Amino acid sequence: MKHIRNFCIIAHIDHGKSTLADRLLDSTNSVTAREKQEQLLDNMDLERERGITIKSHAIQMVYTYEGQEYVLNLIDTPGHVDFSYEVSRSIAACEGALLVVDAAQSIQAQTISNLYLALENDLEIIPVLNKIDLPSANPEEVTDDIVDLIGCDRDEIIPASAKNGIGIEDILKAIITRVPAPKGDENAPLRALVFDSVYNPFRGVETYFRVFDGSIKKNQQIKFVATNKAYSADEIGTLKLVQFPKQEIKAGDVGYLITGIKDAREVKVGDTITDAENPTQKAVSGFEDVKPMVFAGIYPVDTEDYEELRACMEKLQLNDASLIFTPESSAALGFGFRCGFLGMLHLEIIQERLEREFDMTVITTVPNVSYHAYSTKEPDEPIIVSNPSDLPDPSTIDHVEEPYIKASIITKADFVGPVMSLCIEKRGEITNQTYLTTERVELTFDMPLAEIVFDFYDRLKTVSKGYASFDYSPIGLRTSKLVKVDVLLNGNTVDALSALIHFDNAYDIGKRMCIKLKELIPRQQFDIPIQAAIGSKIIARETVKALRKDVTAKCYGGDISRKRKLLEKQKKGKKRMRAVGNVEIPQEAFMAVLKLN
Ligand code: GTP
Repeated sequence: MKHIRNFCIIAHIDHGKSTLADRLLDSTNSVTAREKQEQLLDNMDLERERGITIKSHAIQMVYTYEGQEYVLNLIDTPGHVDFSYEVSRSIAACEGALLVVDAAQSIQAQTISNLYLALENDLEIIPVLNKIDLPSANPEEVTDDIVDLIGCDRDEIIPASAKNGIGIEDILKAIITRVPAPKGDENAPLRALVFDSVYNPFRGVETYFRVFDGSIKKNQQIKFVATNKAYSADEIGTLKLVQFPKQEIKAGDVGYLITGIKDAREVKVGDTITDAENPTQKAVSGFEDVKPMVFAGIYPVDTEDYEELRACMEKLQLNDASLIFTPESSAALGFGFRCGFLGMLHLEIIQERLEREFDMTVITTVPNVSYHAYSTKEPDEPIIVSNPSDLPDPSTIDHVEEPYIKASIITKADFVGPVMSLCIEKRGEITNQTYLTTERVELTFDMPLAEIVFDFYDRLKTVSKGYASFDYSPIGLRTSKLVKVDVLLNGNTVDALSALIHFDNAYDIGKRMCIKLKELIPRQQFDIPIQAAIGSKIIARETVKALRKDVTAKCYGGDISRKRKLLEKQKKGKKRMRAVGNVEIPQEAFMAVLKLN
């Protein structure tokens, strides 16, 4: 155990985490040329395209320092707020963290929130000032910022360029000399933390774990504490770029486990692995069953594809335990599923995977959060509403609660005004304003989560000209004056367009939704009235005017192939449309409320 070091890298997106990981592997000769990919730790295609580490993994390196071989386990952490629980579990598996800060961009919101997680877990922090090669780097100022933030000495900060290989040896040495060796009792019953799991279609679920006490042996009967299910450890091993099967993994070390589990939901991140016969008395603390935060309906474009969509969702769930879905039906869209996601990015990933991996074209409805409604009859039992159209008749409701978050935004002093106005417009209440330096300010707000779902990121980027970083964490439910705004097309309520909106904004949003829908709904042979309503009260109205001309009229007498092409084009345009009553609605319309500005 003395010669093991477990560490992670915490950094804001794009500050160079993957590049640095790559360099560390290079310097410890952990990579052969054949295995080398551009960025080693980001495996999924989607991940690479988005430049975001979606799922954390781990990798083992061997480094010799003063004649002694050390095993270094690098545990990767996902870089997006949607996956912050996974970040917290990866951090819990380590004794140290490299805090990577971009020398041109300095400290950003995510750097801070992940740093706090690391400090809560008593990790040794090694600050790394990355990208010192950049002409725009500000090493002096950023060093000051880091000193202010963590209260370290200037000479504890390692200047580096992951890109040019500067500072890498210093970082490796610091990991050995500054990160404590793991502690644990090798003779106690097995106690290991699950910090990640990955689904492999051929081998089933691969569980990544860190052993705190005891050891795990091949073919041992093991048990997961939270799910209380037992399995045989068919294969265990260490993770290099490929897996290295082993007979035993002891306290302090990190490894993978294969048990033949076929469903990702049976392995929960944060769970404890122990011996089935001789279980540990103290499970690793901090386990949480992650709950979805954002909900949306997913419907097949073609109603006939419902069963196929179900099969695809089931397959996705096999390898993504945080996705949940239940069948629902909508008068407007027919049969589909109400799905729960960790956040907006997770939703986008699922939507993209459905299209890419399964070739399914789907209609996604406006995302919403989950509300608690209290009826006047049973004031103690909340009715959980994860689809706005399920909100019971307002006259039977005493009050509605919605989830709130603590939002942290770091921006330049110049943009404090516009950022504040945006947050206040989004029903935020400022709770703190701290000048990190004369130039950089951290603002914290209590805000309804629902407002983040509605085009917050894009607007924040616009009002701050890109100079704002954002992070959040849930802080529970609060009572809000919410009303259900319905949309009627040609007199019919389109349930998939209903939204719960704060009373003060309902008229304005209703009006803007009608205007947006008017832009998005194609003209047809008749006038289409678009109305927004609260209960039976109409609050806004627009009209899509009837088409005058037949689209093919201009080809009349012309070349028949041109005419066919035009009809063909029309057909294609229909792909993502749904007919509600006699009105054709394009996919964009279902998301209209997200893009009102
Ligand atoms: P996410 O995976 O999105 O969280 O980003 P990351 O933190 O892993 O950053 P990544 O390693 O992908 O680097 C982001 C960009 O910065 C890439 O274009 C890198 O080439 C570049 N980069 C990383 N380190 C350095 C450095 O030391 N100097 C310079 N000039 N560029 C760097």
